[in-house]
Amino acid sequence: MGSSEKFWDKNAKRYSKRPIANEAAYQKKLHITQEYLRPDMSVLELGCGTGSTAIVHAPFVKHIRAVDISPRMLEIARANAEAQRIRNITFDCTTIDKLEVPDQSVDAVLALSVLHLLADWQAVIGRVHRMLKAGGVFVTSTACIGDSMKFFKLAAPVGQFFGVMPLVKVFTTRELTIGFSDAGFKIERQWQPGRNKAVFIVARKEERERINR
Ligand SMILES: C[S@@+](CC[C@H](N)C(=O)[O-])C[C@H]1O[C@@H](n2cnc3c(N)ncnc32)[C@H](O)[C@@H]1O
Repeated sequence: MGSSEKFWDKNAKRYSKRPIANEAAYQKKLHITQEYLRPDMSVLELGCGTGSTAIVHAPFVKHIRAVDISPRMLEIARANAEAQRIRNITFDCTTIDKLEVPDQSVDAVLALSVLHLLADWQAVIGRVHRMLKAGGVFVTSTACIGDSMKFFKLAAPVGQFFGVMPLVKVFTTRELTIGFSDAGFKIERQWQPGRNKAVFIVARKEERERINR
């Protein structure tokens, strides 16, 4: 078991019981996301945790494949979905790096509180771009720690070494938005509930092929 997997597995129960830090902001993110969802859509959620977001969106789409690295998070997610009689989510235990998804096969990808936890977040944005159909959207909420706490770059590896912190990447909002545009995304919505809060972005894979015809 890798260190990230160990950290999230160990903390799954506590994470599932933790109250949402800013309920109003979470609800706003859910509402904005639902503006982009349609009943015929296939959605992929990366790092779904205990499944709460997938469960809210499931009634509005055809299918959600929700993946996470932690078996315990997924155990809780499956039980939550079952309790709410949600049948159109498939939960999958995998690391995002090993996730196999055919090119141009998905309508929307969600990654909430996840990109900053990935060793190569730019590569993941690029992979998501390939997975999406033309016109598809990538919905993310990301802690851009580099905006306020550059020193965290030095502290994070120590916390990881002692197992009290997961892998955390330090980058700024500007670096994140450049990551999206470098991959070929157009940012349609960008919202931050407050200073130093997670940056919520809806980015669209442009329909170049259609435009070029
Ligand atoms: C901060 S939690 C966010 C969970 C959920 N998206 C939410 O908003 O509540 C991060 C989640 O990402 C998962 N995760 C971290 N690294 C991952 C990776 N490389 N591949 C898949 N999942 C990962 C963790 O297990 C954890 O459930």
